[in-house]
Amino acid sequence: MQEFTGKTVVVTGAAGNLGRATARAFARRGARLALIDLNPDALQSARNALPEGCDSAVFAADLLDPAAVADTIAAVKKRFGAIHVLANIAGGFAMGPALHETTDEQWNSLMDLNLRTVFNCCRAAIPEIPDRAGGRIVNISARAAVRGAGHMAPYCASKAAVITLTESLSEELKDRGITVNCILPGTLDTPENRSAMPDAEHDAWVPLDALADVILFLASDAARCVTGAAVPVYGRS
Ligand SMILES: NC(=O)c1ccc[n+]([C@@H]2O[C@H](COP(=O)([O-])OP(=O)(O)OC[C@H]3O[C@@H](n4cnc5c(N)ncnc54)[C@H](OP(=O)(O)O)[C@@H]3O)[C@@H](O)[C@H]2O)c1
Repeated sequence: MQEFTGKTVVVTGAAGNLGRATARAFARRGARLALIDLNPDALQSARNALPEGCDSAVFAADLLDPAAVADTIAAVKKRFGAIHVLANIAGGFAMGPALHETTDEQWNSLMDLNLRTVFNCCRAAIPEIPDRAGGRIVNISARAAVRGAGHMAPYCASKAAVITLTESLSEELKDRGITVNCILPGTLDTPENRSAMPDAEHDAWVPLDALADVILFLASDAARCVTGAAVPVYGRS
């Protein structure tokens, strides 16, 4: 028996860089996996990359649509039963103009992508996480949440709000034995970052597998007394 045998793990953003690495890491430790993302073909390709024998299913949904999220969580429940781990990985980044030139669309887009997706998923999934059964929620914030940067205000603010959402939820859920933590990644070593910053020191960035290891730790029994934390994972960046 492996650490996550018998546990159902929901991974959002499962077709993206970190989502794929995280799903693979959970699968290698015996978890059942519900993979959620926007694009059905990308999801299927992520599922195909899981180790053979992993009990998994894909659920294509727009996490900005509360009804779609509720339907998806109901479908996960029907397929797997209770949810034990919710890894909220869907999110993204965009540089923008100076704040005074930022449009409503630019502001809303990052707040939606990084914050509303987490809100929608937590709201739908929390009732399906059983009490005192090692329930875990792991959110992905960013290093940029703790110190704002120019031309990044909507991104930084959206990721900062993920920290306080995490703290609020951890208070609400601690007596049910459900922990809620978030991770602040520095720059991840992804193909997109390598092509955007070809001259950077890529070895100093955070490998996807290393970040997945931290998510697995927070989801594990070893982290049962850690809740409300914002864990920096910067590598050497
Ligand atoms: N990459 C970094 O250096 C870095 C640094 C700090 C924090 N982070 C955070 O780490 C997380 C993962 O990053 P990543 O590099 O793995 O990103 P990624 O490769 O872009 O993966 C994110 C996934 O989320 C999906 N998604 C976006 N909006 C969605 C929606 N409304 N409904 C359902 N799925 C949606 C994306 O689908 P589409 O591609 O189809 O839009 C994509 O598959 C994000 O929260 C990101 O902000 C990343």
